[in-house]
Amino acid sequence: MTRILSEILNQNELTKEDIVLLLNLNNPSDLSLLFEKARNIRDQYCGAKVFFRGLIEVSNICKKNCLYCGIRSGNKAVLRYDIPENEIIETAKTAWDNGLAAIVLQSGERTDKAYIDKITNILKAISSYTQKGMRVTLSLGEQKKDTYKSWKEAGADAYLLRIETSNPGLFRKIHPDNRFHRFENRLQALEHLKESGFQVGTGVMIGLPFQTIEDLADDLLFMQKIDVDMVGMGPYLEHQETPMFSIRNHLKSENERLLLTLKMYAVLRIIMKDINIASTTALEAISPDGRIQGIQAGANVVMPNITPVKYLGNYMIYHNKAVSKVEMTETLEKAKKSVEKSGFEPVLNVRGDSLHWIEKKRTF
Ligand code: 5AD
Ligand code: SF4
Repeated sequence: MTRILSEILNQNELTKEDIVLLLNLNNPSDLSLLFEKARNIRDQYCGAKVFFRGLIEVSNICKKNCLYCGIRSGNKAVLRYDIPENEIIETAKTAWDNGLAAIVLQSGERTDKAYIDKITNILKAISSYTQKGMRVTLSLGEQKKDTYKSWKEAGADAYLLRIETSNPGLFRKIHPDNRFHRFENRLQALEHLKESGFQVGTGVMIGLPFQTIEDLADDLLFMQKIDVDMVGMGPYLEHQETPMFSIRNHLKSENERLLLTLKMYAVLRIIMKDINIASTTALEAISPDGRIQGIQAGANVVMPNITPVKYLGNYMIYHNKAVSKVEMTETLEKAKKSVEKSGFEPVLNVRGDSLHWIEKKRTF
């Protein structure tokens, strides 16, 4: 295996069969080879650096009802919140004053005018306070193309919209069958984001019930095909108050999902060398050093949660989500220390735009 493996790892292009083989690796020496290859590529293209983004969970109100998600509209047990505009702007300003040059605004999906205008106002305020210096990523779901355009004009730089799974049949299984949850709409939204000039990110959940290794290989090839600039993907973790909780006996163990996620990061790094790959918080719900393991497998971005403490803890998309109710400076200090301890350089004060995107723009 080792000889074939090193041949595969040195190829310029990977086929679906190659990817399936890599995602199926289990023996420790093979896995070391895979992770080492991914790390070398990351170090060569991105340096041994980890970019920081402050994550603000703006609101947990969502009009959708995804069958896997703890904050789905059907879950009446959730205490809903919606951080006021001025508090979000203040949080972003504090982040900037603390040396953070990149943030992510994330929320459940809403498409009403008041909400769209609120986001626009926030973007304009951040843009003016930081003189366009801060990199703002949005993760606010499917919206009309005009909305994407107006948010881009108001100062947003990047947008993360996960496809969740590139298998339309599996997508159908994990979403209610109604007009709010259509695979084609998700694809179209990704296209609209690209046309609106965003650095575009997508991602999937790893270890979903009924998801095969072939599905995951297709997910990686999908990311390559639509030529994304960044990826945020993590393990699927069940949540008690969701319909999918009832089929939890179909899941791989949490440790298997963790390892599979690390393999997905490594293979993605090999096939898309200069993109930004986030080491997601969901890894930390499985293992306290999950995010560091993600970096060691080829990721180069972490997103410490800087949501104001009084709202923290209500954005429970899956069980055991790690939330540490401390103020922003402490959160950042802790995250910096853990990144340093693992031998990487934490980078807060630069935007950390996707090199892949910069290169694409340069060659156009
Ligand atoms: N486990 C893991 N990830 C989840 N998400 C939603 N619910 C879960 C869950 N139970 C992810 C989805 C979504 C993002 C906001 O959170 O991928 O796009
Ligand atoms: Fe809403 Fe996103 Fe959860 Fe679906 S995954 S219910 S869109 S917050």
